[in-house]
Amino acid sequence: MSRGIEVGGIYLDNAATTRVDEGVVKKVSEFFTKNYGNASSQHSIGREAKEELEKARSEIAKFIGAEASEIVFTSGGTESNNLALKGLALANPEKKHIITSVIEHPCILETCKVLEKQGYKVNYVGVGKDGIVDAKDVERKIRKDTLVVSVMHVNNEIGTIQPVEEIAEICKKKGVYFHTDAVQGFTKINLDLKNIDLMSVSGHKIHAPKGVGFLYVKKGTKISAIINGGGQESGLRSGTENIPGIIGLAEVLKKKIDKKKIEKIRDRIVRGLLEIPGTKINGSRDNRIYNNIHVSFYGIEGESLMLMLDSEGICVSTGSACASTKLKESYVLKALGIEELYIHGSLRLTLDEITVEEADFVVEKIAEKVMKLREISPFKFEKGEMK
Ligand SMILES: Cc1ncc(COP(=O)(O)O)c(C=O)c1O
Repeated sequence: MSRGIEVGGIYLDNAATTRVDEGVVKKVSEFFTKNYGNASSQHSIGREAKEELEKARSEIAKFIGAEASEIVFTSGGTESNNLALKGLALANPEKKHIITSVIEHPCILETCKVLEKQGYKVNYVGVGKDGIVDAKDVERKIRKDTLVVSVMHVNNEIGTIQPVEEIAEICKKKGVYFHTDAVQGFTKINLDLKNIDLMSVSGHKIHAPKGVGFLYVKKGTKISAIINGGGQESGLRSGTENIPGIIGLAEVLKKKIDKKKIEKIRDRIVRGLLEIPGTKINGSRDNRIYNNIHVSFYGIEGESLMLMLDSEGICVSTGSACASTKLKESYVLKALGIEELYIHGSLRLTLDEITVEEADFVVEKIAEKVMKLREISPFKFEKGEMK
């Protein structure tokens, strides 16, 4: 079993997943053993489960400023993103053009690839050196047959915040659906849903259990189911609802996060890391989520650094969790035009509650390991110059 926070580890990989909140665990456990009904059953235990399910739906809808009927529960971010794009495509076959960005999560990019094979034309909008999509670029690519524009709220690797409200407004004016993958931004940054037609959310990124999420679908959106069966979730997502997960998702929204405190410690770590020669912070420093640090150290291997830190009880990632099992260069960093010798030496630190002492320990250990790796690296970084 890997090291958990309780046994002294410092977990800095909260963009990959989070520790389930204690209050959520307590609340959810009732729904395994006491109120374990199937919301489709007609007897009292089933009716009770249905009541709790609808209560959770209303609470979540209220939290985002939507109506309960606009929440479709799913198994998480991947399924919500698949449902958004494939569901729109199925329901609107006359429109064959999609716009997305080059820095989306693989579950959007791979879905687009599938749709391309089915005859869809997909435009992938690039990003600037700051890792941010230009809304004007999106606007220029909209055509008469554009079905949907899908741009993520916060990038999962570099934490940059995309101008989704601005893009959504453009889409609204042009009569094009707008979808956002809000998996990394949800509960951290508020989003005005006024012009957003669809939004994907995942529970396990926000201290709720894994295997639960939802797709917000604005009333009036023409969308079809991609999973068929018993007709749950108003026919849009068949399958027995994951009531413990859904209850956990609603419960976690009551939790308050001290964002300012995390941001302050994040900035302290960034200052410390920038003292190491040959260090770069990737992506906009201003337009980024408060808990993300994405840093590159010239001429070393990020994987080696990650493993050395792991042996000290510090859990970080070399990029996105989903891509870091394949030793491949990050397509996100490539899109920013970052040099290869920096790309390979990248780390992502995504913070939750952390003390100043822990933060200073992390900086000290990273500096120590980077220096060690530099000693054996054939690529030397000396006196501020690359050799
Ligand atoms: C931006 C983004 N979208 C989608 C997903 C997939 O979410 P899930 O793990 O709930 O399927 C992730 C998870 O890493 C993500 O970061």
